[in-house]
Amino acid sequence: MNRSTAYANANIALIKYWGKFEASLNVPAALSLSMTLSHLGTKVTVTSIDGPSHQASIINGAIKEKDLLRLKNYLELVRQYFPFDGFLKVVSESSIGISAGLASSASFFAALATALNAHFKWQLDQQQLSILARMGSASAARSIFGGFAALKGGVSHEEAYAYPVSSKLDLAMVLAVVDQSPKPISSREAMNITQATSPFYRAFIESQKDDFDRAVKALSEGDITILGELMEHSTLKMFASMWTAIPAINYWHPKSLELISMVYQLRKEQGEVYFTMDAGPNVKILCPELKLPAVLTRLACSGLTTDIRTSAPGEGSKILSEHLHD
Ligand code: PMV
Repeated sequence: MNRSTAYANANIALIKYWGKFEASLNVPAALSLSMTLSHLGTKVTVTSIDGPSHQASIINGAIKEKDLLRLKNYLELVRQYFPFDGFLKVVSESSIGISAGLASSASFFAALATALNAHFKWQLDQQQLSILARMGSASAARSIFGGFAALKGGVSHEEAYAYPVSSKLDLAMVLAVVDQSPKPISSREAMNITQATSPFYRAFIESQKDDFDRAVKALSEGDITILGELMEHSTLKMFASMWTAIPAINYWHPKSLELISMVYQLRKEQGEVYFTMDAGPNVKILCPELKLPAVLTRLACSGLTTDIRTSAPGEGSKILSEHLHD
């Protein structure tokens, strides 16, 4: 049977994007910077099938109607840019929670784009592959690359690709999961509302380039203090724009704030420990690898969560020879 499989890790944005420049093609409004995680991602197998439509299933979960529709729309959009015949069955298996702000869609669409490229022998390079992934979920473009990656925004479809960014830092990222249930509102919808109604959105976008440039410099010079401060600043600016949207968008849980207070306290005692959050209540903690034991001990004692995932900078997307069968 003609099938192809790929794996991609999730990534967490250090400098956030929020909002679209070109919604139909998922071109972000501003550039962003991320760390690709190790061992937290999604495996996708695509198989050519007889019509009349695309199909999908998830090994460790049930597929929702709206996700199937999103997938079908994506595949039809891809067909317009990279013509292919027939229909596909897409089977996936993820080691992270779905739709809970844990970047599962980033790893899914990066793995899917990588599998499609192999399946149809398009021979796209990583830059083109990142564009293909971005058309499914903008953050997915960054998961094509390992380590650290940037994604361009506020540019045309052809120019909105991701690229690798060098780092001199030995970093770890800890995911403190407080709630894995699907988010109350999709990031796509929340972005539209924020962009259309928040008086603070413009300030977020206008300061993005400066934050990004300084964060890239901090990474390449090995300055975690500047990087961490910029990450928190970017995170809070993004949420400030969401909270001031009409209606207000709030992904936070009381425990999110408690975890952030814990990070502030740890930073006072231990130095460089920083937080970020995405479209969900879960808190991600960035620290030098050496400080990981202290962070994990404090988290375990906090009683705020028992679901803790630890990651280092991970690999980019890759082809696998073992396929998923549902
Ligand atoms: O591209 P999406 O729909 O996965 O949205 C990602 C949005 C944030 O995670 C909040 C920010 C980012 O740059 O990843």
